[in-house]
Amino acid sequence: MSQKKLLRALAGETLETPPIWMMRQAGRYLPEYRATREKAGDFLSLCYNPELAAEVTLQPIRRYDFDAAILFADILLVPQALGADLWFVTGEGPRLSTITSQRDLDALKPVDDIHDTLGPIYETVQILSRELPSDTTLIGFAGAPWTVATYMIAGKGTPDQGPAHLLRQEDTQVFEALLDLITEATIEYLSRQISAGAECVKLFDSWAGSLSGEAFDKYALAPAARIIAELKARHPGIPVIAFPREAGPKYEGFAKATGADCVALDNSVDLDWAVERVQRDGCVQGNLASSHMVTGGQALVDETRAIVDAFSGGPHIFNLGHGITPDADPDNVQIMIDTVRAK
Ligand code: CP3
Repeated sequence: MSQKKLLRALAGETLETPPIWMMRQAGRYLPEYRATREKAGDFLSLCYNPELAAEVTLQPIRRYDFDAAILFADILLVPQALGADLWFVTGEGPRLSTITSQRDLDALKPVDDIHDTLGPIYETVQILSRELPSDTTLIGFAGAPWTVATYMIAGKGTPDQGPAHLLRQEDTQVFEALLDLITEATIEYLSRQISAGAECVKLFDSWAGSLSGEAFDKYALAPAARIIAELKARHPGIPVIAFPREAGPKYEGFAKATGADCVALDNSVDLDWAVERVQRDGCVQGNLASSHMVTGGQALVDETRAIVDAFSGGPHIFNLGHGITPDADPDNVQIMIDTVRAK
């Protein structure tokens, strides 16, 4: 059995202190990240440069001794590998060519072709699996189909995912075909990451919260279940973390219904409710508000302790409820880690 703390928690073990890592731990709040990004030229060049992408993945491990490293890449590389144009506008975020018709869909590449673009990412995973400390778990990841589709349909991030909801209502067939294509591409992408050395994978469904009722089950839950079943069939025992962000009451039962080994909780989820309704099914990850990494102080310590205490009776991975933001103070990250590990 693995001695790595993160893998032990994922296997359902209750540990003395929870393993810890942080979403977006390699990011702009770190001066060493900004320097490496500068060297690469821009964000996408950094993603596709295996040496430099491995370097920024390792930076937060060296600085903080996290229990896990997450591959440095982006969820929008899959649309790019499928043939969508992708670029980042400074201060505004991602832009993509849009998919809103059968014609747009037909112009995309077949799933088998994605590895032509994504090859450097697998190389990054290989470098990391050689270079990481022996007690650090390597996490691979991809966006969940619904979240990736919201960007592909709108061509950018949207506050309410309006264009994706519109397409799903007005041209359900095209919408569902797009979701299927992303689902298949995600299986192949994550499967290659695992073959290259990822020891766990995480599915980011950042916009799951804008789906409700039957739509949530069809477009968030079912694709996750399909991806997880296929990955586990190909790579027996591979642990999967699912992050249906802002799923609210739909967090209950999500792990069981999808086969995920762990669900990541956003910071809107009430601790007592999560202990009773979610952690009883297995490992949970989360869920400190990332704003504490900006504001610090006693509130950061108190809230960190409250989360560790609440989940101490079962398997838990400490993390933020969403990614750390560029205005965060790196010192607050160390305070959070020290608080989690002080026992
Ligand atoms: O967590 C990590 O350290 C691993 C790397 C990682 C990135 N993006 C790097 C990144 C991961 C896991 C992601 C996931 C991701 N990307 C999500 C899902 C999680 C979430 O945050 O909800 C989404 C929706 C994206 C799409 C994306 N990428 C957006 C909307 C943006 C722009 C917003 C922003 O923060 O500027 C990105 C860019 C991005 N991805 C950055 C990083 C470090 C910032 C790029 C830069 O250096 O300028």
